Amino acid sequence: MGDLEDASVVITGASRGLGRALALALARRGARTVLVARDEAGINETVRRLGGEGKEPVALVGSIANLDDVRRIRDTVLAIAAPTALINNASQFAAGSLAQMSPEVVAAVLETGVVGSTLMAQAFLPALRAAGTGLLLNIGARVASPAYPLDVSGTSLPYQTGKRYLTLLSAALRQEAPDVAVATLYLPPIGSAVDLDDPPEALARAYPGQTVLPLAAVAEAVGNRLAGVGMRWEEWVLSS
Ligand SMILES: NC(=O)c1ccc[n+]([C@@H]2O[C@H](COP(=O)([O-])OP(=O)(O)OC[C@H]3O[C@@H](n4cnc5c(N)ncnc54)[C@H](OP(=O)(O)O)[C@@H]3O)[C@@H](O)[C@H]2O)c1
Repeated sequence: MGDLEDASVVITGASRGLGRALALALARRGARTVLVARDEAGINETVRRLGGEGKEPVALVGSIANLDDVRRIRDTVLAIAAPTALINNASQFAAGSLAQMSPEVVAAVLETGVVGSTLMAQAFLPALRAAGTGLLLNIGARVASPAYPLDVSGTSLPYQTGKRYLTLLSAALRQEAPDVAVATLYLPPIGSAVDLDDPPEALARAYPGQTVLPLAAVAEAVGNRLAGVGMRWEEWVLSS
């Protein structure tokens, strides 16, 4: 019996990286996971790796930046299970100056980061309020936290805009829905280029000379927050 048996968690960006790690960690603790992303093969691989852990996952292919998809995702989830948490994890990364970047990339990064995160929050806020103990977690980035002055050199304006916007989104949602716990996780670099099944030394090989956080550690911390145990949130949230 896991400590998240009562949790039903919508995870965006669950086709790889941290989203997949979150799905695995939360399902192992008994949660029902709702997996959202555009890449069907990636979602299917996440379902395969769940291997029957937790309650049966709900796999939904779609873009959080597409209103029709968001409505379909919301309606499907509400028909199956009352969600207790939404993790706005989906994101598109792009580095470089506006001069180097195609307008298509600029639009896609902004649409996912700003529009998509907002549409998902809007779609699920009523259900999270109804849950009584609902949690909405926005996955931000330390380099785009209020504690860091704007520096687009290692990232880009569209990426920074999406990530910095999450601080605003969280603050506004706290005002609008004080009965929902809203948090922003300002993550340092994480080891999403390393497969979850790889041995620990793979991290150091993939990121020589860099300090990156293993995905499993982030996923465990999020699981602890959801379960209300081991509230070592401050280590991650530089400011919320
Ligand atoms: N990697 C780092 O070092 C780092 C550092 C700080 C913060 N973060 C943040 O941590 C989170 C996870 O990072 P990661 O490295 O695991 O990211 P990742 O490997 O790039 O995965 C991003 C996920 O978002 C999904 N996605 C992108 N656009 C989408 C859309 N419009 N609709 C639905 N899903 C969409 C992708 O799936 P599809 O392509 O299948 O849609 C994918 O599953 C992100 O929010 C990232 O900004 C990462």
